[in-house]
Amino acid sequence: MLVGVGSVALFAPGCGGSEGTDATSSGGVSSDAGSGSSSGSGAASSTGGTGGGGASGGSSSDGGSLGFGGDGGQGSAATLREAAALAGKYVGTALDIVAHRNDATYAEILAQEFDEVTPENAMKWEPLAPTADTYDWEDADESADVAEANDQSIKGHTLVWHLQHPTWLSASMTPEELRLAMQSHIETTMGRYRGRVRAWDVVNEAVDVASASGYTESIFYEVLGPDYIADAFRWAREADPEALLFYNEVGIERIGAKSNFTYEMISALLEDGVPIDGIGFQSHISIHRYPSLGNLRSNIRRFADLGLVVSLSEIDARTLLLPGDRDLRWRVQRVAMQQLTSACALEPACEGVTFWGFTDNYSWINDDGDPDDALLFDRSYQKKPAYQGALDGFLGRPPALGENALENGDFSAGLDGWEGLDADLALSGEAGCASARAGTTAGMVQTDLAAALAEGAHAFAAEVRVDGSEEAVVDAILVVELEDGTSEELNIASVPAEPGAWVELSGYFGLGFESPLTSAELQIRGPAADVELCLRGVGMRPLSPE
Ligand code: XIL
Repeated sequence: MLVGVGSVALFAPGCGGSEGTDATSSGGVSSDAGSGSSSGSGAASSTGGTGGGGASGGSSSDGGSLGFGGDGGQGSAATLREAAALAGKYVGTALDIVAHRNDATYAEILAQEFDEVTPENAMKWEPLAPTADTYDWEDADESADVAEANDQSIKGHTLVWHLQHPTWLSASMTPEELRLAMQSHIETTMGRYRGRVRAWDVVNEAVDVASASGYTESIFYEVLGPDYIADAFRWAREADPEALLFYNEVGIERIGAKSNFTYEMISALLEDGVPIDGIGFQSHISIHRYPSLGNLRSNIRRFADLGLVVSLSEIDARTLLLPGDRDLRWRVQRVAMQQLTSACALEPACEGVTFWGFTDNYSWINDDGDPDDALLFDRSYQKKPAYQGALDGFLGRPPALGENALENGDFSAGLDGWEGLDADLALSGEAGCASARAGTTAGMVQTDLAAALAEGAHAFAAEVRVDGSEEAVVDAILVVELEDGTSEELNIASVPAEPGAWVELSGYFGLGFESPLTSAELQIRGPAADVELCLRGVGMRPLSPE
């Protein structure tokens, strides 16, 4: 039985919610799997790199080599710390202070591999303030001491969040009472660690595009409206003018509905003079489906263009939604970690990444009754393939793209290989267009892909255009059949497309089969009947570490 690559909505944070892209085509459709053109704007920050290398576009991997280490791009590093430093980035981990206290191996690896920590829970409002008039600093102080003893910088997390805030805060407080509580908490906490904490997540997860307003329905939003966000940042700047102030959010790695809302919100706040220095993309991903490298990098760049620094702030990569044995899942996970760290290494505005822990022994993902292997070290503290992926990414090596599994993906041979699916198909320049579509499942199809597809990590990328509707979601669906008789529709990418504009439809996905693959076809579909759908530059390529 094959478990759905398409079942994105089955699991919670970070993995769903922000599907697709509205990427305007301005300069922009960076093709991970299509034509292979590089979206790279150049080198990582120069602080650690030696080769001055811009991305060497046009190769089989988007991004190319940075030329680190003066040895022609083959830089090497013994630890994540070293590798990140070569890229001029930091590498952080969530710090589980209880594990640190009780587990010497945990403490040793934490010190050796990372140069920044984010206390996983110890600096959240709830543990800090058990009552309205008392603070308990024990775990937070110890976390800061640990970091300093290891020569690690500290990111404080998090001042205002709809979860893990004290139970004595309540929706029956008056606006003035709640504002005072927030202000006092921010001043007290940031004041205590002034000069020690480099950066703070001031507001966490304020956006929820599933709600009527687009904002998370927290006590803060309900009592104060969206202004609480601006207030929190202003109080934070006063409390510690030196600390970098971050907005941190889940599920915004991909350009799409949620990241677009967040982008508009942050743009408006900055225009109002609200002091925000950076944005954290939490990056809780699943290896069965996640944003493509080009999409992630474009997303980093648009926030950078607002003047912000960007971080990938809570990385972990679930594996269990990919069918197959552990060996396969861990190999695919390696590529996912490599993609995330290489995106940061290749984007000058990305200041660093933080993993949400480092050993599968202690991961918050194990706590919700659904244990997984989402991190870099296994439960016995052995390095997993994911560790090597993270290291390679920091060294400026993104995953490499293999041969296109599709025939005539660029339509250079007319319509060869393509068929209309309940639609008429015609060539229009270098694009194929489906018209007279019968319904949302009608569009374009390429069949007989089974022989060209193997288990493992893949990149899908294309450009799509719709005509004849306001906005229409376009999906790339892989329909597979297995020898055991099961079949599945795997949604490998989707995008809300605006009429008349080419937009990027891309995504990375893992394939695993529990019995041999007997047939596979790609379908591009989604808009309402009769909306014309055009497609160009289509690629579906295996991803490998090198
Ligand atoms: C998690 C911690 O890892 C868990 O130990 C705790 O029980 C719940 O919170 N997004 C965030 C983090 O911003 O603070 C969350 O951390 C994970 C999701």
